[in-house]
Amino acid sequence: MPEFTGELPVREPAWNLIPSVENIQRHPRGVDFQCGVCYLYLRILAPNLVRVRFSPTGEFRPRRSWAVTVADEEWPPAVAFEVQQTEKEVIIETEKIRIQVERHPCRCRVKFFDRENRPFAHDTGLGIGWRQLGAGKSQVACWKRMEAEEKFYGFGERPGLLEQKGKRLTNWTTDSLDYTMLTDAMYLAVPFFMALRPQVGYGLFFNTTFWSRFDVGAEQPDVLRMETFAGELDYYLIYGPEPAEILRTYTQLTGRITLPPRWALGYHQCRWSYDSETEVRQLVYQLRHRRIPCDVIHLDIDYMFGFRVFTWNPKRFPDPKKLLDDLGREGFKVVTIVDPGVKFEPQADYPVYDEGIEKDYFLRTADGKIFHGYVWPGRAVFPDFLRPEVRQWWGELHRNLTAMGVAGIWNDMNEPAMNDRPFGDEGGKKIFLPMDAPAGPADERTTYAEIHNLYGMMMARACYEGLEKLRKRSRSFVLTRSGYAGVQKWSAVWTGDNHSLWEYLEMSLPMLCNLGLSGVAFVGADIGGFAGDATPELFARWMQVGMLYPLMRAHSMINTKRHEPWEFGPRVEAICRQYIEWRYRLLPYIYTLFWEAATTGAPILRPLFYHYPRDRKTYEIYDQVLLGPWLMAAPVYRPGTDKRMVYLPEGTWYDWWTGECYPGSTYILADAPLEKMPMYLRAGGIVPLAPVMQYTGELPVKELRLRVAPGTGEWTLYEDDGDTLEYRQGMWATTTYGVYLQHRQVVVEIQARQGQWTPHPRTVTVEVMGLGEQEFTDDGAFRRLVFS
Ligand code: GLC
Repeated sequence: MPEFTGELPVREPAWNLIPSVENIQRHPRGVDFQCGVCYLYLRILAPNLVRVRFSPTGEFRPRRSWAVTVADEEWPPAVAFEVQQTEKEVIIETEKIRIQVERHPCRCRVKFFDRENRPFAHDTGLGIGWRQLGAGKSQVACWKRMEAEEKFYGFGERPGLLEQKGKRLTNWTTDSLDYTMLTDAMYLAVPFFMALRPQVGYGLFFNTTFWSRFDVGAEQPDVLRMETFAGELDYYLIYGPEPAEILRTYTQLTGRITLPPRWALGYHQCRWSYDSETEVRQLVYQLRHRRIPCDVIHLDIDYMFGFRVFTWNPKRFPDPKKLLDDLGREGFKVVTIVDPGVKFEPQADYPVYDEGIEKDYFLRTADGKIFHGYVWPGRAVFPDFLRPEVRQWWGELHRNLTAMGVAGIWNDMNEPAMNDRPFGDEGGKKIFLPMDAPAGPADERTTYAEIHNLYGMMMARACYEGLEKLRKRSRSFVLTRSGYAGVQKWSAVWTGDNHSLWEYLEMSLPMLCNLGLSGVAFVGADIGGFAGDATPELFARWMQVGMLYPLMRAHSMINTKRHEPWEFGPRVEAICRQYIEWRYRLLPYIYTLFWEAATTGAPILRPLFYHYPRDRKTYEIYDQVLLGPWLMAAPVYRPGTDKRMVYLPEGTWYDWWTGECYPGSTYILADAPLEKMPMYLRAGGIVPLAPVMQYTGELPVKELRLRVAPGTGEWTLYEDDGDTLEYRQGMWATTTYGVYLQHRQVVVEIQARQGQWTPHPRTVTVEVMGLGEQEFTDDGAFRRLVFS
């Protein structure tokens, strides 16, 4: 139980530290420091982006292409920076920051300052250190000062609340089944964080795929230590100061989401045990009959034949093509699960196994034997997804699914999760592949220790690239449990096996916010909770919160109480319908937020501080969120509650349900009976709404409604066909709306539509809260509406 007891102390060898700087050399993109045999490189990649690399031997590893998409030399050249030297230090200055490297008296330390001389990310204590741990294993570490008042966020997937100070956070992808607020290593690892105080904000990406850990003031208050089992230290420092700027740069480095199909933003219905055609047909009948909007049905492991990946169970799913066609006519898309473990089944006419063996695609141990672990199909082997030819092969295997009409893939168990004996056998325990197993492509061949964290992400990449080829014109949906920095390029992410308990509902929002702050914008938690039985009240509250998740999927475990919305009685069913309908009404807004995430890296679901970084009061608020810039929700996540305190940041706020207006910078007590999740629209906010539909493409949008809160604001709506890749060729439309106050009137300006795509003929109703509405036929021309 290390998550409860912490790790036992062990005797550790002492750290070697960098000596003073002996030589300095200016490089076209930075400065090189020679300190004895050690080398420290600083590379100025942009005015707010510095890469710091340190090698104790003076030798640096070749570039790894896995997470960082832009190599140093690919950044725009000629970032202006100045270098000054004094007896004690070297000072490098860009337009945004100053870096001071102390050369004497004792050792080299790197320090950062903003233009107003405010310090951040200063090396402290030991500075940078390294040591040998035996068996060829080495470790590097860096100690940085945490400034007073600084708060820490991001760190990928982290159970618990929003701010992460005082924790030890390990980056090592793990099947974290039954995780709690105390669990450290999770399914997904992103060694990136954001530090914030009122005037200063920076991000740090620890560029190592080896095991790594942040100690955020746990061992020594006010000292952040980062360490990794790699031979060199490599990190990117990103100055903001605003969170949006930090994320823009971080996602320039590791990539952004690609625009998903619009249907993937609708409601997803999932459960482990939709295990036959009959059951699926009954399910979709219930959804349509009860008018619960839904776009996607997920099929869990039971659709397969004996859990063999890329097969269908011939008894329970005798004609998948017909089933999926019929579902398609009713407006449903189907997503099937795919796990990485391939059933060990020699000479049994299982081509996935046979081909993989023949082509030597499965991971081997250091002594050349094919590695085996146990997963759902029993004994299994694992493809080496780091190799491009393996990814291509795996991608192509999805044809068995796409040919039947499957539109998206759910990648699970890809940490990879496995046991040392068959699931269910007593005494079985989780295992990892041996760290010295060879892995990776010929030109980047390495050992498993370096690629473990990448395994799930590379599986998702194989899947994404396969679907892109197979489904040609259409966009696909990929969902993954494991991943690493940059996973957003290939896949959406869900937070694994949560429980049907109030605590898991509570922590879902901060978990998703921290993922968003780590560049992973398309995220969701299992609505209703995966393990255990939800109560009606919990389920109703969870569906309300789920409406805000970028990925809105309800999922539950086999052998639990059924969790479909109608299983909890008519009152809860009506609440679920109401909030799923709101999700569909909000789709033009949410779709635009996805476009923003794809073009700027901005999260879809945002903690309050994202928009109010100077307001300290927002720093610890984890139970209120902003969906995009305008809409704030203050959900209820406790039983028996019909009121809650809500913090309204500066400005004016309008109650989404009643239109009542509140001055900000204060707390209010909001009414929140079971039917109501308090929501507020920020003054100047503009939210487009579509009519309710049973699925995203059911009808063309003939009426678009803009809900506007009096104030000053501007917002651009993004639209396209929602399904094909033609948006990449310019088939999109944007419309910029502005609102401002003039004398005692509210003016709404609609700029002329841009882009080549034309929406379906429609009327637009502009509703200014408290002042009534005006309607016009949308011809794409400029318009100015005055409300008084
Ligand atoms: C894992 C997944 C869960 C899935 C189950 C069966 O526990 O996290 O979502 O339902 O496996 O495939």
